[in-house]
Amino acid sequence: MRIDRYLNECGICSRKEAAIAAKRGGVTVNGVPEKSVARHIDPETDRVCYLGREIAYRRFTYIMLNKPAGYVSATDDKSLPYVTELLSPELRRMGLFPVGRLDRDTVGLMILTNNGLLSHTLLSPKHHVEKVYRAGFRDRLSGAAEEVFAEGLKLLDGTLCKPAKIVCDPDRMGGLITLTEGKYHQIKRMLEAMDNQVVSLERVSFAGIPLDPLLDRGEWRPLTGEEEALLHRAAEETRAP
Ligand code: URA
Repeated sequence: MRIDRYLNECGICSRKEAAIAAKRGGVTVNGVPEKSVARHIDPETDRVCYLGREIAYRRFTYIMLNKPAGYVSATDDKSLPYVTELLSPELRRMGLFPVGRLDRDTVGLMILTNNGLLSHTLLSPKHHVEKVYRAGFRDRLSGAAEEVFAEGLKLLDGTLCKPAKIVCDPDRMGGLITLTEGKYHQIKRMLEAMDNQVVSLERVSFAGIPLDPLLDRGEWRPLTGEEEALLHRAAEETRAP
């Protein structure tokens, strides 16, 4: 892999910045200054330093973000705030994107990565990755909701949802909803089909990874090794026939 690409993928600098630093002697490979960023290195064995700092190679990065309201689930937008704006400049250089979408007004757990294949696998409709949401309702939910959700609810436009789970709060004005699919505005449309309305929506878990209660809205952190393993396990399980 070229040195400039390596430094860019690690989120350290742009390829142009890498070239400038290298010309000035700011890039070394195995302790020897390297002026040409076109040189190929082996990420597994070569030691690359940028401005005196050793840059460890990570092929992919995984971030947990507590999405605030008002942000769109995108990597760019001309007029609206978008989630990757909340990340550090270093992470923004790594080409991270959200794994799936949350509505602009939905808050909570969002995973961002630059691992396109894993993201694709986790989101594929054929698969069954669990997403758990805490929802608040306009009206008390009817007593039949649990069965209706479990059987597979029909949306107002006739679309059939996969069986889902709802655990209502004692007052039935909210609850935890578990989905294994991600239709557009799905929970809002499910509640509309029950003659009700969602008044608040937060994703609290994705593929068995709970939202870290220490993260405030708008804050992020890298996934822990265990959380990364859960994502990979979910993808492995969903790949199985
Ligand atoms: N269901 C919705 O209606 N909105 C979301 O953002 C996620 C699930």
